[in-house]
Amino acid sequence: MTGITIAITNQKGGVAKTTTTVNLSASLASMGYRVLIIDMDPQGHAGEHLGVKKEQTILEVLTKQTVIQNNIVKTYKQNLYCLPSNLQLGQFNQLNPTQYQYALKGALAEIKGDFDFILIDCQPSLSLLTLNALTASDYVILPVQAEFFALDGLSQLVYTLKEIQNRLHPTLGVLGILLTMFDRRNKLSLEVRQELTQNFRESLFKTVIPRNIKLAEAPSFNLAINDYDKGSAGADAYQNLAKEILKKLNLDKS
Ligand SMILES: Nc1ncnc2c1ncn2[C@@H]1O[C@H](COP(=O)(O)OP(=O)(O)OP(=O)(O)O)[C@@H](O)[C@H]1O
Ligand SMILES: [Mg+2]
Repeated sequence: MTGITIAITNQKGGVAKTTTTVNLSASLASMGYRVLIIDMDPQGHAGEHLGVKKEQTILEVLTKQTVIQNNIVKTYKQNLYCLPSNLQLGQFNQLNPTQYQYALKGALAEIKGDFDFILIDCQPSLSLLTLNALTASDYVILPVQAEFFALDGLSQLVYTLKEIQNRLHPTLGVLGILLTMFDRRNKLSLEVRQELTQNFRESLFKTVIPRNIKLAEAPSFNLAINDYDKGSAGADAYQNLAKEILKKLNLDKS
C-alpha cells in the first residue's frame, strides 16, 4: 500500500469539504481499499459525522506528544479509519510555521504503507493546519459550491496552490475541481458549471455532486451516505467520484 494522500481543501466555508472527505472515503472503503481520514479542522466535523470519539486527536501527533499509530481509531465501517480532531486543535495555528509546516508529513511517513488512501479534511482558511495538509499531500481536491461567488475564491485558491508548489512542494498535484450542491433546475448552478468548464476544463471532475437532502441528513445518523441511503443520488455521485479518481490514478481494475 502506498497511502496516496489527498487534501480536500478550499478556504471558503460550507462548500462540502467534510461531506466529500467522509463520503468519498466511505466509497473507497466499500470498494475494498483501506482508507484513513485525517481531520485537520478544529470543528471536528469529520469525526463527528462518523460518530468516533474525539479524545485522542491529531493535535498530540502534530506536537509529538504521541506517535500517530496510537491515535488512529476504527470507525463503524470496515476498512475506514479516522484520526479525529476537536476544538483544541486550533491551538496548533499559534505555533511557529517554520518549525511546524511539515509536522503532518513527518507523522504520515510512519503509516503510509498501512493504507491505500489517506484523505485530509481541511478547515476553511489558509492556516498552518491547512499548510500542513498541503505539504503532506500528493494531491488536492477542490470542492466548489455551485453559487455566485464560487469562482472568485477559486482563482485565489489556485494562486495559493501555485505558490506552495513553487516554494515548498513542487510535486503537489491538483486531482480535480469538484462541483458540489449542484441543482440543475437552478440557472445559477448551470452558469457556474459553464464558467468552470470554460476556465478549468482540464481539472474539472466529470462527476458532479447534486444537491441531495440525504447527504445533509447522513451525519446526524453517524453514517456515510452509502450506508444511510445506498440508492440516493448523493450515494451514486460519491461512488462515481471514487471511480473517476481510481481511473485518473490508473488504479481502476475494470
Ligand atoms: N450535495 C449536498 N446536498 C445537500 N447538502 C449538502 C451537500 N453537500 C453538503 N451539504 C450540506 O452543506 C453543509 C456544508 O457542508 P460541509 O460541512 O461538508 O462543508 P465544509 O466545506 O466542510 O464546511 P466548513 O468550511 O465549515 O468545514 C452541511 O450541512 C452539509 O450537510
Ligand atoms: Mg468541514
